[in-house]
Amino acid sequence: MNIRAARLNDVTSIYTLVAEHAYRGDVLPRTLASIRDSVDDWIVVDQGGQIVGCASLVAYTSELAEVRSLAVHDQCKGNGFGAAILQALIAEAQQRNIPSLFALTRAVPFFQRAGFVIGDKARFPEKIWRDCVLCPVREECDETAVVLELESVPHLVNTDPNEPAKDVFGNLPRFNED
Ligand SMILES: CC(C)(COP(=O)(O)OP(=O)(O)OC[C@H]1O[C@@H](n2cnc3c(N)ncnc32)[C@H](O)[C@@H]1OP(=O)(O)O)[C@@H](O)C(=O)NCCC(=O)NCCS
Repeated sequence: MNIRAARLNDVTSIYTLVAEHAYRGDVLPRTLASIRDSVDDWIVVDQGGQIVGCASLVAYTSELAEVRSLAVHDQCKGNGFGAAILQALIAEAQQRNIPSLFALTRAVPFFQRAGFVIGDKARFPEKIWRDCVLCPVREECDETAVVLELESVPHLVNTDPNEPAKDVFGNLPRFNED
């Protein structure tokens, strides 16, 4: 599995993957422009040149970031790609010293496996005022807030620059690596 930082020429593939899942209501839609503008915050799973998974890490403050637009191509679901993407984002949040990660999701058990716990949406006013306020179904929102306090998980990435990146699940590439 090749997880790597997204590049500008991945933008259209990411857009298509996110749009397919947004159509079903699993993630919020993202425009091509918003993906292009935030491309440094995205990671992808690249299978022989085909983008089959993606997600972005959206930092709201130095204390809080969101796992956003996590999606795996239907034909690739159930192979651990989603879990690997999530671990890479957790490692990246640790690298950036961001203490709390959250997501709004319908896939609660998937996040719980990685140590997230159900939280209170009201704890994330930054998200509510930036995105939810524009959502047409905000009054009947069926998404659950899940949160991970990073101090509760081991450091996934060795911060010693002289040592190769390591993590507890194997050897995930560093987020910024090609
Ligand atoms: C959630 C998602 C990213 C998981 O990707 P994946 O590559 O299939 O995940 P993994 O293979 O690492 O793990 C699969 C496990 O997660 C579970 N899972 C996946 N989606 C789930 C959901 N919506 N609810 C509960 N469990 C879910 C699967 O049942 C599976 O469990 P199993 O191993 O016991 O069979 C993928 O299903 C997806 O793209 N879903 C739609 C978008 C979404 O909901 N994103 C999260 C919000 S940002």
